[in-house]
Amino acid sequence: MVKICCIGAGYVGGPTMAVIALKCPEIEVAVVDISLQRIAQWNSESLPIFEPGLDEVVKACRGRNLFFSSDVEKHVAEADIVFVSVNTPTKTRGLGAGKAADLTYWESAARMIADVSRSDKIVVEKSTVPVKTAEAIEKILTHNNKGINFQILSNPEFLAEGTAIDDLFKPDRVLIGGRETPDGQRAVASLKAVYAHWVPEDRILTTNLWSAELSKLAANAFLAQRISSVNAMSALCEATGADVSEVAFAIGKDSRIGPRFLNSSVGFGGSCFQKDILNLVYICECNGLAEVASYWKQVVHINDYQKNRFVKRVVSSMFNTVSGKKIAVLGFAFKKDTGDTRETPAIDVCNGLLGDKALLSIYDPQVSEEQIRRDLAMNKFDWDHPQHLQPLSPTASSNSVRVVWDAYEATKDAHGICILTEWDEFRKLDFRKIYAAMQKPAFVFDGRNIVNVDELRDIGFIVYSIGKPLDPWVKDLPASS
Ligand code: NAD
Ligand code: UDX
Repeated sequence: MVKICCIGAGYVGGPTMAVIALKCPEIEVAVVDISLQRIAQWNSESLPIFEPGLDEVVKACRGRNLFFSSDVEKHVAEADIVFVSVNTPTKTRGLGAGKAADLTYWESAARMIADVSRSDKIVVEKSTVPVKTAEAIEKILTHNNKGINFQILSNPEFLAEGTAIDDLFKPDRVLIGGRETPDGQRAVASLKAVYAHWVPEDRILTTNLWSAELSKLAANAFLAQRISSVNAMSALCEATGADVSEVAFAIGKDSRIGPRFLNSSVGFGGSCFQKDILNLVYICECNGLAEVASYWKQVVHINDYQKNRFVKRVVSSMFNTVSGKKIAVLGFAFKKDTGDTRETPAIDVCNGLLGDKALLSIYDPQVSEEQIRRDLAMNKFDWDHPQHLQPLSPTASSNSVRVVWDAYEATKDAHGICILTEWDEFRKLDFRKIYAAMQKPAFVFDGRNIVNVDELRDIGFIVYSIGKPLDPWVKDLPASS
């Protein structure tokens, strides 16, 4: 029986390994983590992450050929293939702070693999890492030269949260990079055989190590660039009376552009896009490619601009101050169908509004009050350093923030509503009922373009929706962008 061990039981390690276990019943898969709490949750009825379809997959194979354990060293020592899926956050201090990837967690995992291994192993980079990381990892693994053959593969993960299980069941492609030596190619073939249990062969791409590592950063940069492009266009739409949804639809009909990933929003969030682009920028700078670095940096810059623009629009529409006003925030997760709040635009928007002394009433169907308060108190880039690996971070105990468990409760007596996550339930809200219970004039600021602007205006709301023709009320105010 082939044994797989995955170090890191997070958003990637957990779902990815659960799907491998489901599709490959003859392979034993152990997912290990230094967080005892996370492992306990994976072994419980209440999994540590909310992801549609994940519960069913885990229940089908947990205890059969899928195991979650904190006995990291034992499972690594026994494995033939070791995936490393630990977090690779942005460095917060030292050389490259604010841009470069912090490989501390990766390096400590690699040192541990080197120390406990007694047999040959394939070590798979599942985490997103800077190009050329495999070279450094190889040096760490072979530093005490025990005669063990380690083959390093790059197998970046392309799943998106909220659709992770579908993405894993039917990936657009699986990418495997390896050394071009006979040993390297044998390792590539072994990993390919795992995926070939359910992924058609023509969707399993093999490349050299550096192409695989760089392709992951490139894919995220291209995806994020698409959102910044449509978001940049949304500002021009608001200035000219064009409608960003119509523009996106029209350009998406060009088969060279395509219709997906063109939804204008309050800004992209999530644990990957910003971190990976900043990492790309740093790699370009280190390679003397200043122009290339500044090109990609602009994608993050426009994203920050979009979040700021939204806050300014809220404040300027409400007579240039939100001080003491109740603002309902609907949605805190970085996208629908996940409870993940890492780099969610809601953090910047809420902090912007709190800076203007607003009173926030926040509702998200999947995010806990504790998480929201911790996020609002956290320093930039601290979010991806797991709490169990660092001193407890402070939480926002401010009286200016209330977290409630119902959209109607959140909006009661509010002066304005900010929609920051596109949860399906927000599309079905009874806005007449909401309007009746709000202060007047009642404002809706839709950061996800999910409301029917005309219907809401008929009810009496003053409505701002990203990239849509402005409400006459908003239009007549001094420019906020
Ligand atoms: P995560 O924070 O959810 O999980 C990482 C886990 O690794 C944590 O539970 C942490 O405790 C554990 N860990 C850290 N160091 C360890 C060690 N030395 N030994 C054992 N466990 C250790 O992160 P994630 O979202 O799963 O992301 C993991 C990697 O995958 C990152 O590089 C990320 O960029 C990449 N990625 C993420 C996504 C996504 O959607 N989240 C998608 C593709 C790629
Ligand atoms: C992303 C990549 O899509 C995935 O391939 C990679 O493996 C990890 O990073 P993820 O961050 O989970 O996945 O979600 P994604 O669907 O890409 O959304 C990222 C952010 O962009 C979210 O905040 C989302 O709301 C926003 N977004 C996405 C838009 O604003 N408009 C869009 O059209 C699409």
